[in-house]
Amino acid sequence: MRVLIINASQLLTLTGPDRPRAGREMSSLGLIRDGAVLIDEEGLIIASGPRDRVQKQAGERISYQLIDAGGRVVLPGFVDSHAHPVFSGPRLDDFERRIQGRSYADIAAMGGGILWTVNGVRGASEQSLADGLRAWARLFLQAGTSTLEAKSGYGLSLEDELKILRVIRAVGREGPLELIATFLGAHAVPPELKGRKDEYMRRVCEEMLPVVSREGLARFVDVFCDEGYFTPEHAERLFKAASQAGLGAKIHAEQLSLTGGSRLAVRAAACSADHLDHIDDAGVQALVGSRTVAGLVPGSNYFFNKPYPPARRLIDSGAAVALATDFNPGTCPCWDMRMILSIACTQMRMSPAEALVAATINGAWALGLGKTHGSLEPGRQADILCYEAEDYREIPYYFGRGSVAWLMKRGQLVYENATMASQSVRDGV
Ligand code: NIG
Ligand code: FE
Repeated sequence: MRVLIINASQLLTLTGPDRPRAGREMSSLGLIRDGAVLIDEEGLIIASGPRDRVQKQAGERISYQLIDAGGRVVLPGFVDSHAHPVFSGPRLDDFERRIQGRSYADIAAMGGGILWTVNGVRGASEQSLADGLRAWARLFLQAGTSTLEAKSGYGLSLEDELKILRVIRAVGREGPLELIATFLGAHAVPPELKGRKDEYMRRVCEEMLPVVSREGLARFVDVFCDEGYFTPEHAERLFKAASQAGLGAKIHAEQLSLTGGSRLAVRAAACSADHLDHIDDAGVQALVGSRTVAGLVPGSNYFFNKPYPPARRLIDSGAAVALATDFNPGTCPCWDMRMILSIACTQMRMSPAEALVAATINGAWALGLGKTHGSLEPGRQADILCYEAEDYREIPYYFGRGSVAWLMKRGQLVYENATMASQSVRDGV
């Protein structure tokens, strides 16, 4: 049956050019007052716009399910384009060490950090990792996220990386949260190859990547290109191998230091270069006019009490910015895009409109999904979020307290806040 959503106080269509929204374009939400959306039987949008026009298009003789948005804000579900959601447990000792003033490098040297999680994931069964991911997936949905990137990177051996990617595939197939898998074998050097970084990178490119690609287990590769981790030369090698294997590229760049990773990302036509805390002018200029989205993950800066990446400089220079959680047990144990939006506005001085563009359509472009996800235009997937607010600015304003009324994935309601369940849904003709 078709679905007709009416009575959106503000419908944020995110209509715009067919590319990442850059610079001033990031202020445009395609806002329609008293908006409506019509969805077909396949879960694709037929029309979105002012209620009268869309209602006319709904026709008189075709039956549809009517959803009254009750004067709330209706927008695309969040597209969280950077996350590491398959891990074995929290890193609470690291948390305390950091409060005592230890650095990321200190903590790794003390037996914490990425390798602590690798140890846990290697010892965990596929079943328990899948149960864990399912539980997180429910929380992402409740927070309004309808599409999530999911990286591997806590296995660091062929067998363990495949285990993680299979978990992502299985849970993604179950739905309703759509998972986009990224192979992050180049996250750290595993303990058994300590001091042999080049050899590990060779294995990632020549032994792991071909299997990942053959089994269709990932759409992207990613690499932690930073001081103490991998170099731009390593990243370049990986990107070449990925492109031959038909996988797209993403990168963790300039998080701990300036390495030039963002310029490399542009040269490799990566979908996104993420973190960017230490990006320089040459990096910003390279991103401007490119198809590579600047993926900012300010939850990790908040959690580390570190200076934020230069969102204003990026946007004012004309770059396209996406916002993501970077959900992971080490640097950002937050799955909630609402919190990220609030941090983006208050700490990085992004406007609420820019933050919402960054969390929807630009998140979609950061995953190569900009033509199907992240906006409410005809032909796009009906991944729709109804938010308990009359004005979209309330989303980042009521930090830590905002409420999702319901979330729809491909035209199906997949989460409804208990207090408003079913009262707004009825059949219409
Ligand atoms: O995005 N920078 C590398 N990877 C993660 C952290 C992973 C971890 O500490 O477990 C990040 O911050
Ligand atoms: Fe990350």
